Amino acid sequence: MRKGIWQEFDGYQDIVEEIKVSRKLGGTVSSAMVSAEEYIRQLHPDRLELCVSDIITETPSTKTLRLVSKDNYLPPFMAGQYIALYLEIAGIRTSRPYSISSQPNQVGYYDITVRRVENGLVSNYLLDVVKRGDTLISSGPAGNFYFNPLLHKKTMVCIAGGSGITPFMSMIREIIECALDRLVYLFYGNQTIDDVIFGAELNRISKRFDHIHYIPVIEEPSRKYEGACGFISRDVMREVLENIEDKSFFICGPQGLYDFCLPQIQEMGVPGRKIKQEMYGAPPNIWQYPGWPHEVHQDDVFTVNIKNGKQLTAKAGEPLLVALEKNGVVVPSLCRSGDCSMCRLKILSGKVFQPAGVPVRKSDKKYGYVHSCVSYPLENLEILIQ
Ligand SMILES: Cc1cc2nc3c(=O)[nH]c(=O)nc-3n(C[C@H](O)[C@H](O)[C@H](O)COP(=O)(O)OP(=O)(O)OC[C@H]3O[C@@H](n4cnc5c(N)ncnc54)[C@H](O)[C@@H]3O)c2cc1C
Ligand code: FES
Repeated sequence: MRKGIWQEFDGYQDIVEEIKVSRKLGGTVSSAMVSAEEYIRQLHPDRLELCVSDIITETPSTKTLRLVSKDNYLPPFMAGQYIALYLEIAGIRTSRPYSISSQPNQVGYYDITVRRVENGLVSNYLLDVVKRGDTLISSGPAGNFYFNPLLHKKTMVCIAGGSGITPFMSMIREIIECALDRLVYLFYGNQTIDDVIFGAELNRISKRFDHIHYIPVIEEPSRKYEGACGFISRDVMREVLENIEDKSFFICGPQGLYDFCLPQIQEMGVPGRKIKQEMYGAPPNIWQYPGWPHEVHQDDVFTVNIKNGKQLTAKAGEPLLVALEKNGVVVPSLCRSGDCSMCRLKILSGKVFQPAGVPVRKSDKKYGYVHSCVSYPLENLEILIQ
């Protein structure tokens, strides 16, 4: 009989033997499949049950929550990824993503570092109500804001604003603890020196390690402050960076940081493909965005009919996802910034505003699907949630 080509592959004989043994002992190939499924579930769990093991005050407005697993297992993550917390606060079931600030090489806990947002539902709850020993439910690690050796240069220019320092902290901690071959320039913008998160640790690291450069940039400096002032402008960056060649740019923080820094980086001649950005939530004051129809006021209220579901009202200036949650309708969500497509739903009639740049699939566009976390009603709507 002619030999099949697969019989010449390394390991062929081992597999044949394994199947023979499995059959003899009553095992099947499908039992192996189940364990593979279990393995995948462990790597990418739908939900994690986490216990707050410690709370560390970082600044007057920021705390780190140290989260350990209730079943002693935390899935691995890439430095820069986030988890979404799922909570019920004042009767509203909602979620918020938080970047993991601890380093991925230690597997005992995830740290998330939360800054207070004025009138913010979840940040104030996490900072004022959650205490040591409480249980929090989260997604598994998600997101694609991480260093990819196939795409990025070893020299990283990291631009952070406020709480946007958290993914970079995870990256820097991993780089020094695992002795990774990378050179980092971290420009970190804050309003005052008291707002700087992880300042002491970053100063210590940059003094000790030649390949980590830390440049704080303070908008309203005190008299004693001697570092860079104002915003992270191209002049501030040029003073430190000899050139922009062979460097990858990473940017993370509030919308104002992108609005100011992106044009500055582009003016330095950095092409878009060398800039990686983490979207930090839905854009604020959406009614000031290019393309927003002037005849619609942010406080205009529209009716939303859910096919085979309830009817509710939604404000024009509020993401549809938030309006649904406020009315007890839970739509799956993860990034809440238009990126992951978890919150997609179909617009059957009526119009919504979507800011430019939201990565909606071509087929979704064609069939009327939108990402509800960054969609704003401009008319009465009929929607379908699947
Ligand atoms: C990938 C990712 C990672 C993140 N990582 C971190 C992190 O590490 N640390 C961190 O602190 N944050 C992080 N964030 C931000 C975080 O997810 C939350 O957005 C933040 O904590 C604010 O949530 P909140 O519930 O307190 O505020 P929200 O209640 O969502 O309010 C946010 C702002 O919107 C305004 N607002 C609320 N409702 C309305 C409305 N109906 N109409 C108009 N305005 C309204 C509020 O006044 C407030 O100013 C991350 C976000 C993303 C997308
Ligand atoms: S939750 Fe990710 S796109 Fe809306």
